[in-house]
Amino acid sequence: MNVEQFSLKGYAGYETSLSEHPDEELTQVGPKTPCGEYLRRFWHPVYLTNDLCDLPVTLKILGEELVLFRDLSGTLGLVHKRCPHRQASLEYGKCEEHGIRCCYHGWHFDTDGKLLDAPGQPENLSDRLKLRIKLGAYPVVEYKGLIFSYMGPIAEMPEFPVFDAMEFEKMEMVPYKAPFRCNWLQVQDAILDPLHTSFLHSNIGRMQFSKGFGEVGQMDFFERDVWILGVNTRRVGENVWFRVNELVLPNFTQAGSAFAADGTLRRLYGRSSFTRWVVPVDDENTLALAWANFGERGDPPEWNTPEGPELIEQGEVFDRTYEERQRSPGDAEATEGMGRITVHKNENLVSSDRGIALMRKRLREQIRAVQNGKSPARASVANSGLIPTYGGDTVLRIPLKGDPDESQTLSELAHAFMEMQYQADDLNEDERVRFVGEKLTELETKTT
Ligand code: FES
Ligand SMILES: [Fe+2]
Repeated sequence: MNVEQFSLKGYAGYETSLSEHPDEELTQVGPKTPCGEYLRRFWHPVYLTNDLCDLPVTLKILGEELVLFRDLSGTLGLVHKRCPHRQASLEYGKCEEHGIRCCYHGWHFDTDGKLLDAPGQPENLSDRLKLRIKLGAYPVVEYKGLIFSYMGPIAEMPEFPVFDAMEFEKMEMVPYKAPFRCNWLQVQDAILDPLHTSFLHSNIGRMQFSKGFGEVGQMDFFERDVWILGVNTRRVGENVWFRVNELVLPNFTQAGSAFAADGTLRRLYGRSSFTRWVVPVDDENTLALAWANFGERGDPPEWNTPEGPELIEQGEVFDRTYEERQRSPGDAEATEGMGRITVHKNENLVSSDRGIALMRKRLREQIRAVQNGKSPARASVANSGLIPTYGGDTVLRIPLKGDPDESQTLSELAHAFMEMQYQADDLNEDERVRFVGEKLTELETKTT
């Protein structure tokens, strides 16, 4: 056997060296890390209301161990896991009318961490302890079945952000969570990777969403303020289908529907089928916490089943055998299969990854700004009183004219569609739907 023949065939396993060093600046999320500090300047969902009963629960967010509980007056507390007396876990604590009492020696803390009682001490010592000792606690907001917290410096706490999608009146918003055994950025990358819907969700295993996803289409990326948007524009017969994936820095994500649109039926201004945050648990685990949106402008109500949100989130239900996961992989398989923390130096980003590259660049810039003592850029509230969002899908009847390579035309249409959405930023939802709907109809008439 001629050794040279092998190298000519490209067997480069030995020669191809891989880096073992992840991009720590973007992937380390624990306390006092640059990325962790940046993320701690924002509100994040941490738990589902429905998962919390009368007992405290432990959770980990941004690498910190915490206990969440609801006291008997109904107030939520999110506190450091360990009691400041001698470190017993408050998951075994007793919920009181106000706050929680440690199981070990009965120290009683309010939901803001104030020490209310340290039994068994002389009165003057107990008073001094109350002044000196605090249990670490974070502010909490409960909103339509999701429990949010702000884990940063109190002096820098922003207003709780209300995106327009959190106020959709004609949508059934179903809270759900999706665990991923990998770093947060791997999960988040997928939102700016429209191409994966044509392969992972369509042509590799079973057709997980509607059939139209199998077409690759034109991809355009938009950067606007703290938004990064990926628009996938597909030709489907006589129609043009726009699907907008959305990231609002640092970790708010939306996308078009999974089941409501396949490009064959006209659809004027569908809104996102999920409203979701990618929340780091620690460097190697992530939780997506979200609402699945069902209704005329979201996914069809018949998908509002126990499995529906799982299918919308990942293309498949979460609990499957290894063989099932191999035969029809979903987002968990794609992202977790990269390893717990993927090494960016080993990637080869191409033009369809432009959204991912943009996101990483913006994240790095924001992380460094916070390190330099600046406030991070935040989404601003429009005149409607809400933060506008753009994720969703629209199908217009625009027959093919002339050149079958219409990538330029599709790209121009995508730009026009995004521009009309931006023009509607200050409108309330009903006005916005009317305005964008009329503009889309005009666009259809103009191009037919
Ligand atoms: S360890 Fe909590 S009261 Fe002693
Ligand atoms: Fe996906």
